[in-house]
Amino acid sequence: MVAAAPRADDTAPGAFGAERSPGVAAGAPGADRGGALIALEGVDGCGKSTQARLLVEALQRRGAAVGPLDAPGTVVREPGGTPLGEGVRELLLHRDHAVGAWAEALLYAAARSQLAHDVLWPALAAGRVLVLDRYVDSSLAYQGHARGVGIDAVLQVNAAATGGLLPDLSLVLELPRRVAAARRSSSPDRIEAEGEDLQKRVADGYAVLVRRFPQRMLVVPGDGDRAAVAASVADAVLPWLERRGLLGREASGEPS
Ligand SMILES: Nc1ncnc2c1ncn2[C@@H]1O[C@H](COP(=O)(O)OP(=O)(O)OP(=O)(O)O)[C@@H](O)[C@H]1O
Ligand SMILES: [Mg+2]
Repeated sequence: MVAAAPRADDTAPGAFGAERSPGVAAGAPGADRGGALIALEGVDGCGKSTQARLLVEALQRRGAAVGPLDAPGTVVREPGGTPLGEGVRELLLHRDHAVGAWAEALLYAAARSQLAHDVLWPALAAGRVLVLDRYVDSSLAYQGHARGVGIDAVLQVNAAATGGLLPDLSLVLELPRRVAAARRSSSPDRIEAEGEDLQKRVADGYAVLVRRFPQRMLVVPGDGDRAAVAASVADAVLPWLERRGLLGREASGEPS
């Protein structure tokens, strides 16, 4: 995959969310829903959490109203972001028990449903910008593609669960697999512990998704140093938010 620039017509209504996918509620994704939802995606260890934090800081410097209503200035992580979601995270990632592919898909969707209704939709309605450390495209890549549940099946479940809330922009950090493997923690979670075959299928899944959903998905090179990757992320996000009028709404927090 190569890095792609946002489409030239990306200010048009429906940009980044306008694909017509089965089961996705009309009127929600891509419509002007007030704020914006930006997801960081990619294989385990690619740098999502690092870049999500750096993006929040960059957005705050540019005066965006970032983060949930009750936790401004924070990244929303998945699964998580609600008490139920944090419980599901513990169940899915840190317990040593069998989890079937469909069970995994449905548990992620359940956590996401709570998050969408309690946190995401209210913040979007208030015009806030949300930075997500994983969102629905993780489920499409991991459970849909890599585990074989099927991208369409997982998309339909998630559309129903979230009220059709797709990200406005989903950035996939791409880097050679050995670089991501070297970055992964020495205490792997349940999914990381499954090894490289799964990670390869996940990377393939993201490639499939980027081809299928080019209006809202974008590859960002993830193998540079943190600042270089952050600059690429900011280039992909800030001009689009600026055109949507979502920057400069709040004091930057920098000394005047
Ligand atoms: N550009 C970079 N260059 C070198 N190391 C990096 C870079 N970005 C992140 N790291 C380091 O790599 C490790 C993994 O990064 P990070 O936790 O951000 O990845 P992640 O995609 O969130 O991982 P996970 O999928 O496990 O949540 C961390 O130790 C982080 O400090
Ligand atoms: Mg992380």
